Amino acid sequence: MRITVDLFSLEGKNIAITGASSGFGHHFAGVLAGAGASVVLGARRTEKIADRVNEINNTGARAVGLSLDVRDEQSCQVFLDQAEEAFGPVDVLINNAGVEAGAKTYTMIEEEDWDAVFDTNLKSVWRLSKMYTQAVVDGGRAQGNIINIASITAYRTIKGQFPYAVSKAALVKATEILALEAARFGIRVNALAPGYILTDVSRLLLESERSDTFVKGIPMRRYGEFDDLNGPLLLLASDASHYMTGSVVVVDGGHLCSEL
Ligand SMILES: NC(=O)c1ccc[n+]([C@@H]2O[C@H](COP(=O)([O-])OP(=O)(O)OC[C@H]3O[C@@H](n4cnc5c(N)ncnc54)[C@H](OP(=O)(O)O)[C@@H]3O)[C@@H](O)[C@H]2O)c1
Repeated sequence: MRITVDLFSLEGKNIAITGASSGFGHHFAGVLAGAGASVVLGARRTEKIADRVNEINNTGARAVGLSLDVRDEQSCQVFLDQAEEAFGPVDVLINNAGVEAGAKTYTMIEEEDWDAVFDTNLKSVWRLSKMYTQAVVDGGRAQGNIINIASITAYRTIKGQFPYAVSKAALVKATEILALEAARFGIRVNALAPGYILTDVSRLLLESERSDTFVKGIPMRRYGEFDDLNGPLLLLASDASHYMTGSVVVVDGGHLCSEL
């Protein structure tokens, strides 16, 4: 038992999470803090962040909340700087912030849909990873860890998810390229690719009339729950994955193996 606890422990680690005001990021912050990490939560809705930070601090763990717009270069730099001021060097950066463009097929998508989705889901990952790498190098640190939140939409083909799915497919490739190029700085880069879990991002699809068909296509016959991600998250965030980089960990109840 002891080896399990030690292997996945996040004691002493400082973890910065983007998009932590709701959904996955909100949940991840509690899981990571529960495993011993100090957590820095960033998003635009600062009142939601403040509530979550209070909840976590009330458990005796350590959390701070920061205003963050991942589409804004200066906001990203301030976020990383203030994350370091709060708890010291950032050991793990989780690029979780994400948006979708609504249930639109390609004839309905507008220019601004591409910009919003690609800026948030893809370009910000490059931007924050570049800034984080600079901090690791400037700090003379031997290692770093980046986790990108991809999606099984990177691999599946679904109507009405054009920019979103393409952004996630590109994020898988971005994870591989970052892993290749960041290894020389001692930085590992992996991705988590969840299946469908009910949040604001997935609500349109999971509450549509197509929902029953989707569930039938999942071999485990249910959508995911937040807790289904805990183990894979702790694996990637902890030193248990110290020889993993460029990996995409799929957590989807077998959805990618589906015949449907
Ligand atoms: N739910 C699923 O089934 C599913 C499956 C696979 C992958 N994912 C991915 O999981 C990640 C989290 O999504 P979710 O499902 O948890 O949905 P969510 O509850 O809507 O969370 C999205 C988060 O991203 C933040 N965000 C959006 N734009 C931002 C910006 N410009 N700057 C900073 N933060 C921003 C939002 O915060 P603010 O609005 O407060 O800024 C929010 O905290 C996304 O990358 C999503 O693609 C979700």
